[in-house]
Amino acid sequence: MAKPVEKKRIVVLLLVSFLLTLLLFGPIKRAILGDNSKDVEVIPTQVFYANHVAPILNDHCVTCHRANGTAPFALTSYEYAFRKKTTIRKVVEKGIMPPWPADPTYSHFLGENFLSDDEKQILYKWVDQGARYGDSAKLPEVPTFNKLSNLGKPDVTVYMDSVLIEGNNRDKFYVVKSPFEIPNDTFIRAIEFVPGKHQLVHHLNADLILYREDLKQNVFDGIRFVDEETVPTELAHENLKILNDDGSQPYFYHSAINYLPGVIGTIYPEGIGGYRVNKKSAFYARDIHYAPIQKDLWDHSHYNIFYSKTPPTRLTKEMMLGTNGMSTIHPQLVIPPDTIMMFSTRYRIPSDMSVLTINPHMHLLGQKLKAYAISLENDTIPLIRINRWDFRWQYFYTFPKMVKLSAGTTIVVEATFDNTSDNKNNPYNPPRQVSERYDGDGALMRTTDEMFQFIITYLDYQEGDETTSLDPTR
Ligand code: HEC
Repeated sequence: MAKPVEKKRIVVLLLVSFLLTLLLFGPIKRAILGDNSKDVEVIPTQVFYANHVAPILNDHCVTCHRANGTAPFALTSYEYAFRKKTTIRKVVEKGIMPPWPADPTYSHFLGENFLSDDEKQILYKWVDQGARYGDSAKLPEVPTFNKLSNLGKPDVTVYMDSVLIEGNNRDKFYVVKSPFEIPNDTFIRAIEFVPGKHQLVHHLNADLILYREDLKQNVFDGIRFVDEETVPTELAHENLKILNDDGSQPYFYHSAINYLPGVIGTIYPEGIGGYRVNKKSAFYARDIHYAPIQKDLWDHSHYNIFYSKTPPTRLTKEMMLGTNGMSTIHPQLVIPPDTIMMFSTRYRIPSDMSVLTINPHMHLLGQKLKAYAISLENDTIPLIRINRWDFRWQYFYTFPKMVKLSAGTTIVVEATFDNTSDNKNNPYNPPRQVSERYDGDGALMRTTDEMFQFIITYLDYQEGDETTSLDPTR
């Protein structure tokens, strides 16, 4: 039995510890459970569409999820969002939507689109609480979009002819001429390609042909579409009437515009990267690839041209590493069945350059990719990391500011390919050996072949480039 003095001491001790607990409870709780004070402000207890969810969808989703957008359904109203609520939760949780393959903890790009943890929690909570509507007075207006352009109001729009794509489940490749005439020779700042049907156009590589007025009577001569697989190039040129009237070659701007899934189009600040365009010109799609479809569909794609106010002072250049490029792939790009394999390609740059935009490219077996540069001082300059490659989202990633790479720096690109049956995009079941050209029957690269390419758009370095913003809106 405790003596009275001890009893008193115990009571005091209990009292002190009680007070201490009270005092410390906040900090202890915060230490154990994490500091929720911020979340309490940001994530409301009751989440509603109009008040909390619509602003997130407007910011991150409706660029694609709207009438005539890239996505197959709109998320521009409560009814639409409600209908898709369960899938929304699922794809957000899995990181599939919004589609932004580049890892934002590695490097940053203009127009990057990913949800913060708070925004994700709000979406989950909304779904879990029954996806309620809320206060219509709080509902923000849906942003408006120009369905014919992502870059603004073009000065000229050049339509391709409409083409009926047969629903026979085969890849189709065409060479297409889209001629046009403008009042004067001028400079252009950007070209944008807008597919008629987003789900159809898999990619496009187009040149811009400039004709001299005295050498070409009629740019509109000739047919528009030639089947690339069955018609040899010379005959295609003849049928499309590509050459000058006297049979000489007009001037070609090679790869003036390339389009891949998810590409929105790049516009640099005034003065950078312009082209000249002549009064008589034509877009020449060396290669437009239509994905296999099951029922017939018409496509009516177009090009938008944006004029420069002033002649460009600095012309962009392009460097391609890997497949068809200036650096070899190690080991050779042959992926045996049932393997996950890493390949790399390296290139040591001969002179200082300022990197504007990068575009990693793989096909269906791509799993992840990392690109960085190692300077002569052995510093690592992160370029891009894609932890979960998604064939459908192959952006041209533009840095917020130019990235300077000094002469002697080595660019390293590492790509991992998954040729197992766990890869649900694997075109073969059971898996087969896949390489840059699997069946060897023709000269064309198919979706089911593999590629490992890294395209860099850059300028020759000039003092101050590394602090120059590439955001054309600033
Ligand atoms: C860059 C365009 C783009 C953006 C931005 C985008 N989506 Fe999508 N979304 C698509 C496309 C295209 C599809 C069709 C499926 C596909 O091709 O992957 C799709 C499919 C979906 C699906 C259906 C997936 C399934 O398995 O059926 C949901 C749900 C979805 N998106 C929700 C969202 C949400 C929520 C956001 C914003 C947080 C968002 N998306 C942002 C283009 C986009």
